[in-house]
Amino acid sequence: MSKAMGSRYSIEGSQELAEYFDFVKDLLDSDVVNEMKNYRHHYSTTCFQHSLNVSYYNYLVCKKLGLDARSAARAGLLHDLFLYDWRTTQRKRGEKPHGMRHPQIALENAKEHFTVDKREEDMIVKHMWPLTVKLPKYAESYVIVATDKYSAALEISMHIGRLMKNKAKRIRQRKAS
Ligand SMILES: [Fe+2]
Ligand SMILES: [Fe+2]
Repeated sequence: MSKAMGSRYSIEGSQELAEYFDFVKDLLDSDVVNEMKNYRHHYSTTCFQHSLNVSYYNYLVCKKLGLDARSAARAGLLHDLFLYDWRTTQRKRGEKPHGMRHPQIALENAKEHFTVDKREEDMIVKHMWPLTVKLPKYAESYVIVATDKYSAALEISMHIGRLMKNKAKRIRQRKAS
């Protein structure tokens, strides 16, 4: 059972998310998307969980705004499909830093495995804007720029929250003994 961080609904089993699940089911069933579970992204959050968070919030925001919620859900799940550990992978001579090159790698991987429409393509390749200089072409691309940052902030703050909780627990145990 998967859940976006901060959401109480399970993606596979809840009635509230039936439409969302329908949009991304084939991606969630694929080996290549599940491969993202092997890579850590923001502290304790895997690349898969981060992509699921972006996909879910992207879907909610675009649906609320009357934008293309299906493309939002799919591009969110594929936007970081770069499939390497960016902390440990050495950059080759002449290669751009990870932050600037991974959207293109994610797009190439996404296109190799799935049908990606023009809007989804723009969302994936521009999600790091303004780091990637070209202006987003669609409203949905501006939404993913925001939901990607929002999800990263959520993941980092939840990680810090867990650390603080564990620290407080250790202090309490030390005092009690
Ligand atoms: Fe990214
Ligand atoms: Fe991301």
